[in-house]
Amino acid sequence: MTKQELMMKQKKSEISITDLPGVGAATAEKLESSGFDNLMSIAVASIGSLVDASGVTESAARKIIQYARDNLNMGFETGEEVLERRKQVERIQTGSVMLNQLVGGGFETSAITECFGEFGSGKTQIGHVLAVRCQVENPDAIAIYIDTENTFRPERIRQLAEGAGLDVEKTLKNIRVAKAYNSDHQMLLTEKVEDLIKKEGLNVRVLIVDSLTAHFRAEFIGRGTLAERQQKLNKHMHALSRLADIHNLCVYLTNQVQSDPAQFFGDPTKAVGGHIVAHASTFRIYLRKGKKNSRVAKLIDSPNLPDGEAAFVVETEGLKDL
Ligand code: GTP
Ligand code: MG
Repeated sequence: MTKQELMMKQKKSEISITDLPGVGAATAEKLESSGFDNLMSIAVASIGSLVDASGVTESAARKIIQYARDNLNMGFETGEEVLERRKQVERIQTGSVMLNQLVGGGFETSAITECFGEFGSGKTQIGHVLAVRCQVENPDAIAIYIDTENTFRPERIRQLAEGAGLDVEKTLKNIRVAKAYNSDHQMLLTEKVEDLIKKEGLNVRVLIVDSLTAHFRAEFIGRGTLAERQQKLNKHMHALSRLADIHNLCVYLTNQVQSDPAQFFGDPTKAVGGHIVAHASTFRIYLRKGKKNSRVAKLIDSPNLPDGEAAFVVETEGLKDL
């Protein structure tokens, strides 16, 4: 199947919200503002959530969902189609050959890469590097940085841009930073990324969330709140994964570690967020401090790459091999 045929096939399945039975402009607006802005989100919705979002009756909601399901190309692509789509995947290089190799030649677009590790292990540094380095191959690439810990530093971007041989002013202009004040704000900002792409037409290549879990961890304290936190985190991960998929973005998340009292031998640390974050991430990297001020990245989960380790150092100009 040629690329053109593939595009045609995708086009054909595009039915808008207002084409749904019994959905006029007002209902469509209510649905869209609640996040039901495409056929897929409606096809997989529950009747109750659609009723809540739009105020239609239960039987109307049932009809809407059924129609969305009938008209949606619900998945099943041929392996050939997937391969064709995978050709669009870009790989963002870091400056460290070893680290690039570890993740298959660079940090992938159309995927979520999560980096977890203790303080000072280099998670934020990698985020800064990706924001800069996505602009090396593609001068119009835009990086979005959702900063929850107030650790984004334009001064650092300047050094890294110089290190990569890029124009400093332009590099800074191509990075959009937003501070997230709490987890709701963080989720809202994630939704807004879609607007930047669709309405402002920005060529967003990288989305960084640094850190993914800090607010969630601070806001939900105690065992009793765990289920609620995980539910919210799940929703957030879904939104991120959807962005990565639909817009071919490289989503980079940093995550904190907590000690795992069940682990007596080996490294007693594990990532915050549990299975929810683990499953939604395409690549997971565990970062730790190594000898001689180096950093060691360990790939612990990947769909197609062997697990392995890479050592690198953080220098003023960027990441280098040891
Ligand atoms: P937390 O956010 O606290 O969990 O840590 P993190 O994993 O995000 O650590 P971060 O990426 O902020 O790493 C900080 C480390 O990077 C510092 O301790 C330095 O070793 C190194 N680093 C940061 N900036 C520079 C720089 O300009 N030059 C050099 N040589 N090293 C730097
Ligand atoms: Mg950090």
